[in-house]
Amino acid sequence: MTERTINVIREAFTEPDEFTSSPLYRALSRTVAAEERLLALAARGRAGQYPTFLFFGAVHQLLLAGAEHQLACYYPSVAGPDALAPDEAAGPALLDFCLRHETELTGLISTRLVQTNHVQRALGLRIGLAEIARHTDAPVHLIEVGTSAGLNLRFDRYGYTLGGRRYGDPASPVQLVAALHGPDTLPDLDALPATASVHGVDLNPVDVRAQADRRWLEALVWPENLDQRRLLAAALDLVAADPPRVLRGDAVDVLPALAAELPPGEPRVVFHSATRLHVPLDRRAAFDAAITAVGTAGPLWWLCVEDGPDPDPRPAASRRDRVGSALRLRDPDGDDHTLAVVEGHLRWVETLQADPDDSSRLEGDEEGRFAR
Ligand SMILES: C[S@@+](CC[C@H](N)C(=O)[O-])C[C@H]1O[C@@H](n2cnc3c(N)ncnc32)[C@H](O)[C@@H]1O
Repeated sequence: MTERTINVIREAFTEPDEFTSSPLYRALSRTVAAEERLLALAARGRAGQYPTFLFFGAVHQLLLAGAEHQLACYYPSVAGPDALAPDEAAGPALLDFCLRHETELTGLISTRLVQTNHVQRALGLRIGLAEIARHTDAPVHLIEVGTSAGLNLRFDRYGYTLGGRRYGDPASPVQLVAALHGPDTLPDLDALPATASVHGVDLNPVDVRAQADRRWLEALVWPENLDQRRLLAAALDLVAADPPRVLRGDAVDVLPALAAELPPGEPRVVFHSATRLHVPLDRRAAFDAAITAVGTAGPLWWLCVEDGPDPDPRPAASRRDRVGSALRLRDPDGDDHTLAVVEGHLRWVETLQADPDDSSRLEGDEEGRFAR
């Protein structure tokens, strides 16, 4: 392992932005950043995989499976409401745990992928589809790239409460609740296009019916996020009753054959969330080109939640108070639109003021529909 690799891993564990809602992982990250043996362990993941998620997921998996150790006392997911707040003994406990379980941890870190599947992100897909419905009447073919367990692909079987308004199935065991900020520009989330077909693509599809795969997804949920754990379990059960079709492989390799299956001329939607950021930098151009090529034989709507808006069109107070990702839609003409800024796990959505100077703005006719 090169010094350079270790330095990159150390940097990832130094003040990791991703753990905003996990005081435990923020505290333990400091221990990892300062300890060469832990950095060497964390560096065993596959290229492009976020070392922080992978390392803590592996440790969490062993603790959830019942590994007895003082470290478990700091995990609300294991110790319950009596879990200790991270203190000066937490770091040494982590180091001791990792040294005792080095072989199992190495096995998990070197074989597993960061596949966290946040069912709440189905809300982003739903907003995007509702926007698309304002512009096309035709049924759409939906492809999710990096679908993990396929939870987002069952977006039409969940209930949603956004800013107090309810959408979707109120009787669903999966109820997604998010706060709403910004002007009143949200499309009707119950007015969705019909789906002609639904497909997922993943490097390593998570089998919702396999206990080992389910356990890995649970381990990727941060220990404090008990609500998310419950939501994940409910969504996994729901999807396991009727899993969507998911093709195994790199999107770059799989999308051409999948696109060739779609009837020419019919609209297709490609969606991805928290996926492109896991694609190694030198593969991103090919990843983007593979998605663009899905539009060769029919109109393509490319929807994603990945990185922040650039520039961020929101007022200064919003930019200061709510750091989020752009919900981006590229229309079949190739014009990009930021539909909203959203919290990375879709806990809030901030709509945007329509920009009257934006010539690529999505426009409707008198009935609010766009003829294509
Ligand atoms: C962090 S998970 C996100 C899952 C889901 N999109 C969500 O928002 O909850 C990223 C997923 O992308 C998959 N992935 C990463 N690179 C990929 C690629 N080049 N082709 C297909 N899937 C990929 C991973 O296997 C993983 O399941």
